[in-house]
Amino acid sequence: METARVNFHPLNKTKEIRAGATILAAANQCSVPIGQSCSGDGICGWCRVTVLRGADHVAPPSELEQRLMEEMNFAGNERAACLARVKGEVTVTTSYW
Ligand code: FES
Repeated sequence: METARVNFHPLNKTKEIRAGATILAAANQCSVPIGQSCSGDGICGWCRVTVLRGADHVAPPSELEQRLMEEMNFAGNERAACLARVKGEVTVTTSYW
């Protein structure tokens, strides 16, 4: 199984996951809180995270994520944790950690 790794900064938590799993899945597996109200349906945008390192290791946004990012005015380094799929090592943060 190919693996990926998500580092949650500044919580000092890291989770290894199956490559292709989402940032939210990694967070849930190591009890890192990420805001959400649509349970990953790509509607609420509360799961916005900032990618600090490894943006190349996150798959390009799906059409759904792309639309959400535009509607919610995501910055260039922000992704929807419930939709963004990790394929290598990435470091993310939020304003509330
Ligand atoms: S949890 Fe709602 S858009 Fe990600």
